[in-house]
Amino acid sequence: MVCLPACLLSRIVQFPFQAIYIVLNILLMQNFSLHNNSNNAMSLWSKIKGKGTEFRGPQPVGQAIMRNLPTSDMIESCSIAGPGFINVKLSTQWIAKRIQNMLTDGIDTWAPRLSVKRAIVDFSSPNIAKEMHVGHLRSTIIGDTIARMLEYAKVDVLRRNHVGDWGTQFGMLIEFLFEKFPDGEVTDQDIGELELFYKASKQRFDGDDEFKERARKAVVALQSGKEEKYQKAWAQICEISRRGFEKVYERLGVHLEEMGESFYNPYIPLALKELNDKGLIKDDEGAKVIKIIEGKKALPLVAMEKDGRYSYASTDFAALWSLLPEEEVKWIIFVILQSGTEEKYQKAWAQICEINRKGSKIVYQRQGVHLGESLNNTYIPLALEELDDEGLIEDDEDAKVIKIIEGNKVPPLIVTKTDGGYNYASTDLAALWYRLNEEKAEWIIYVTDVGQREHFKKIFAAAKSAGWLPADESKYPKTSHVGFGLVLGDDGKRFRTRSTEVVKLVDLLDQAKRRCKEALVERVKVAEWTAEELEQTAEAVGYGAVKYADLKNNRLTNYTFNYDQMLNDKACLMIFSHFYMVILQYICCMHMLEYVRLSENLEGQMLLQTDDERKLGLHLLQFAEAVEEACTNLLPNILCEYLYDLSEKFTSFYSECKVVGSAEETSRLLLCEATAVVMRKCFHLLGITPVYKI
Ligand code: ARG
Repeated sequence: MVCLPACLLSRIVQFPFQAIYIVLNILLMQNFSLHNNSNNAMSLWSKIKGKGTEFRGPQPVGQAIMRNLPTSDMIESCSIAGPGFINVKLSTQWIAKRIQNMLTDGIDTWAPRLSVKRAIVDFSSPNIAKEMHVGHLRSTIIGDTIARMLEYAKVDVLRRNHVGDWGTQFGMLIEFLFEKFPDGEVTDQDIGELELFYKASKQRFDGDDEFKERARKAVVALQSGKEEKYQKAWAQICEISRRGFEKVYERLGVHLEEMGESFYNPYIPLALKELNDKGLIKDDEGAKVIKIIEGKKALPLVAMEKDGRYSYASTDFAALWSLLPEEEVKWIIFVILQSGTEEKYQKAWAQICEINRKGSKIVYQRQGVHLGESLNNTYIPLALEELDDEGLIEDDEDAKVIKIIEGNKVPPLIVTKTDGGYNYASTDLAALWYRLNEEKAEWIIYVTDVGQREHFKKIFAAAKSAGWLPADESKYPKTSHVGFGLVLGDDGKRFRTRSTEVVKLVDLLDQAKRRCKEALVERVKVAEWTAEELEQTAEAVGYGAVKYADLKNNRLTNYTFNYDQMLNDKACLMIFSHFYMVILQYICCMHMLEYVRLSENLEGQMLLQTDDERKLGLHLLQFAEAVEEACTNLLPNILCEYLYDLSEKFTSFYSECKVVGSAEETSRLLLCEATAVVMRKCFHLLGITPVYKI
């Protein structure tokens, strides 16, 4: 839709025709959007209606827009429909030309243009010595697609695997390792399944206080970095885990660069010092915390003026304070005379009451009896003292103020535990500091299950308070948490194996491949396939189906994992087979394309005469928009939907239009080729290996 942004609309109202001309020109130049119907006449009309305009309704406004449209080879014709829709018919020649250009210059010319130069995608990030679970599979698949889309948009992407390789559990693991293998030589086989090793050591840890103490000391020894023995044991455990993770990444064709929690450990004191210097870190019963307030800061409320006089607000504090009985106050009706200020008090007092007298509520009434100010003067010092004791009063250029935050309080972010140790949050703060300052990332994207949303919200809020991130979220550098829902089993509960253990990813992928192979053997003439072909196709389709089943959902929704459904998924198979058709068509006709290529000039070769051809062509042009939308909103399902629609449009075209041997052969072959190019790119962005034979 050629829709004008709201900010421009208001300018248009001021300078109608000049502005329309300019704006449309800009839109046309940028090929802003490719649908062909605009409702701008109506929205414009609603803005100028009743303001002395010469127009008599949206239709004349539409006609005026139409008359003033700049000439452009993008537009074939224009008409007004209904109450004022402007139908802009895009020129078929223009569509064809753009597709031809893409074929000549490559699909990279259709890559979205983003304003970020460097992004970090923090994804997969399993925990050492534990099995990667389906949640990590989702993170791996979603994160990889996001990284691929950004890379396509020429963003420098750092693919970070923030593995859980640090923390107190290592004390227990190391001690257990020493106990089982006193001579220090261990192999993968010795440890066997790391998950079981982890469980055995945990059992030992929980059941024996002496072991617990040794484990605690082992953490200190490891983290001090001075004793080689501990470092070595830690490195061994990490290495065994890493090899397990690598197997999964290899199968999925995902590349990641490991920079685990341990990497950021040395930066924690630095990052925390910066936060502390900014007054953000507070003591909380031995722990160090950052108080996170969700919401915006409002103007402070003055409690005492610069010259030491009590403010107007302080009288009201005192009035209220004097009314608050010690016990169990549920409601206080606070009656104030002046209107317009009560909301501010309400917020301030909501905060105070939440701390002081849990459960108290204040109700304000706009007009009413004002409590005598002088009456409350005696209470002012008492009220202010209490507010001060609660840490609510701050100095602000000699005045005493209460900072008001609009929004709710959330539990604080613990950055140093009572025993002085660091935790998941301190590591993430240090990682964020590092990513912003050392790696100069402009966009940092974290892909984890939605369960970690609160954690990241707090980390981002702390970073904003420290000025590491701009308060305005539309500005860079910025952070985004890409949350995703749970993977459920057929029983509607978390996806687990029968023994209620987490599902191992290698088993899951094995199973997908096996089932796919069975389906293939049933479907194809096996004699025509080499064993290798069968194997590779089973992998491509099996793993591809796992990925597609995941990516096609809006990531926030939980989805039910079901092999049969996944592999028989109509949409999934349709895409695989259509892709094959396109490719087949393309390969078969290679020799015919040859002469077109040789002529080196595709100009005018594509015609898009029928409705189906035009629709397919138009959809091809929308590819760039689809990727941009998927990329900026971090929603891979948008790309899946695009691919699905593309295969449908291709089917219509292919069943309606004869390609080989038709009078329009060259043009249609080019359309096939363009479809193949775009489809292949979609597959690439979704991390799915295309198959050329099914
Ligand atoms: N290891 C964590 C987990 O398994 C995920 C880490 C995500 N990244 C981060 N920077 N916190 O839940």
